[in-house]
Amino acid sequence: MRYLLIDCDPGHDDAMAILTACAHPEELKILGITTVGGNQTLKRVTENAKNILRFLCADIPLASGQEGPLVRRLQAAPEAHGDSGMDGFDFGTGDYPLASEHAVTFLYEKIMACPEKVTIAALAPLTNLALLLKVFPEVKEKISCISMMGGGISHGNCTELTEFNIYVDPEAAQIVFTSGIPIVMAGLDVTEKAAVTAEEIESLKTKGRISRMAGELLTFYHESGKQFGFVDSPIHDLCAVAYLLEPGMFRGERWHVEVSTEDGPARGLTYADKRLAGNEQKNVLVLEDVDRDRFAGLFIEALERLDASACSR
Ligand code: BDR
Ligand code: CA
Repeated sequence: MRYLLIDCDPGHDDAMAILTACAHPEELKILGITTVGGNQTLKRVTENAKNILRFLCADIPLASGQEGPLVRRLQAAPEAHGDSGMDGFDFGTGDYPLASEHAVTFLYEKIMACPEKVTIAALAPLTNLALLLKVFPEVKEKISCISMMGGGISHGNCTELTEFNIYVDPEAAQIVFTSGIPIVMAGLDVTEKAAVTAEEIESLKTKGRISRMAGELLTFYHESGKQFGFVDSPIHDLCAVAYLLEPGMFRGERWHVEVSTEDGPARGLTYADKRLAGNEQKNVLVLEDVDRDRFAGLFIEALERLDASACSR
């Protein structure tokens, strides 16, 4: 059993990662979910997190954090996720409780109160986590691993070199990458292979309540993905959670990775120094490949589990 905190900016793929994590309570004890400005404003992504958790009848504490990056202004991604940050499904009206603490204090308290080390799934710009590590460095001892979606060694999506989550807040990413905490990086090298097909999305819409909701959201996401040349839909953020559930479906290598914060085309680039021999210098397990069918199977089965839960009936 892992104790898990999820930092996110839902976001279609964030939502799929949350759903999949929630479907595995015997393996992942979710201590809380925190939001950060990224795919959309903090207000909108927090609203989206509330909608997902309410729809699931979940009982997971939720806290909102930073509105935008440490240094620069937020650049959102409405072209991929729509104006709401998670277009495609009408969740109706209703609310979900929000913790009164800021996400950074919330994370600190959850981590320090946990009887064991915690794992963090980081699915968004790393602003909240960078602040957590700067303000409360003592948490480092209690974090076993950060499984994150971000970056990419071979190419970018936000610019030719850089991936969205890192590009939005490179200063935060560099703080996290150099923190000494073990990092598993699901960058574009692997996440673009972790895609579901149009047929798989369509079939979700014939199933239970949770699968249908996911199918509707992914229909929007699939359509918007076409403008970027995608035929199938990469569920980027789900890789960070899927790795925790079934690491054997991934292949990766340990390298020394840092983040460029310089102005210019490399700002936000995650670069790997593959020469460094010493294991202690290899701060990141860079995921490179995934068994696509196992990945899709894990996801579809997770939704079926949720369909069968009491709230869905
Ligand atoms: C990442 O950027 C966001 O749009 C997604 O939610 C994911 O976290 C992919 O580059
Ligand atoms: Ca995200």
